Amino acid sequence: MTLQIAPSREELMILAADRLVAEAQTAIAQRGRWTIALSGGSTPKALFELLASPRYINQILWGRCFLFWGDERCVGPDDPQSNYRMTKIALIDHIPIPVGNVLRIRGELAPESAASLYAHEIKRIFGLAEGQFPQFDTMLLGLGNDGHTASLFPASDILGRNDVLVAETWVAKLKQYRISLTAPVINNAHSKIFLAAGDDKAGVIRELIEQTGAYQSYPANLISNADWLLDQAAASQLQH
Ligand code: 6PG
Repeated sequence: MTLQIAPSREELMILAADRLVAEAQTAIAQRGRWTIALSGGSTPKALFELLASPRYINQILWGRCFLFWGDERCVGPDDPQSNYRMTKIALIDHIPIPVGNVLRIRGELAPESAASLYAHEIKRIFGLAEGQFPQFDTMLLGLGNDGHTASLFPASDILGRNDVLVAETWVAKLKQYRISLTAPVINNAHSKIFLAAGDDKAGVIRELIEQTGAYQSYPANLISNADWLLDQAAASQLQH
């Protein structure tokens, strides 16, 4: 577990872009391709835009990359809430990645169908036999101030779904179905990286990293040996 703190949000995105370039170059050198599951929400948008910028775009062999998502809202690909749409606008539309290497979660389908189709795609790309779990090279994770990550929300039914790769989950507080990778799939990744910014997450980050307060109730606590990339604001309550 490593912890890196950037003085500002902008510098955090540079730190994160450098880390993902290193992840991609190592995976492609060692295994011939890079499989990454992207986080959604608002934080990674600036990172994806940076990766698509002239400063970074040629540092990754996009033709060797496979983009997945850690989770998706159950909405269509053109919906403003779609994680895929955010990523398409910020990154995918600007990089030379084969369309078959972008494994979109079909949020427009019925939740159970979207989940089983996504699981099928993961098994196909990773060449998995029944019962096997994929090992993503990189798992980019966000964090909510309630301790959720991907769409593993506190006290939700998906937390116990250790028998499947992907599951649909009803998020009561958002009144929304989501599709998410399950905890064992996230945990099985070669690299797990929490990317978080802003002081609204400083409290939950302190509890999780310093294993204090309510950390055991946070789904993010299910993810072991993760690295943390934070800006100063998100790290502002760390005591050690
Ligand atoms: C999503 C994400 C979710 C996100 C956190 C943080 O679909 O919303 O995958 O886990 O990473 O909610 O979101 P922000 O980056 O917007 O704070």
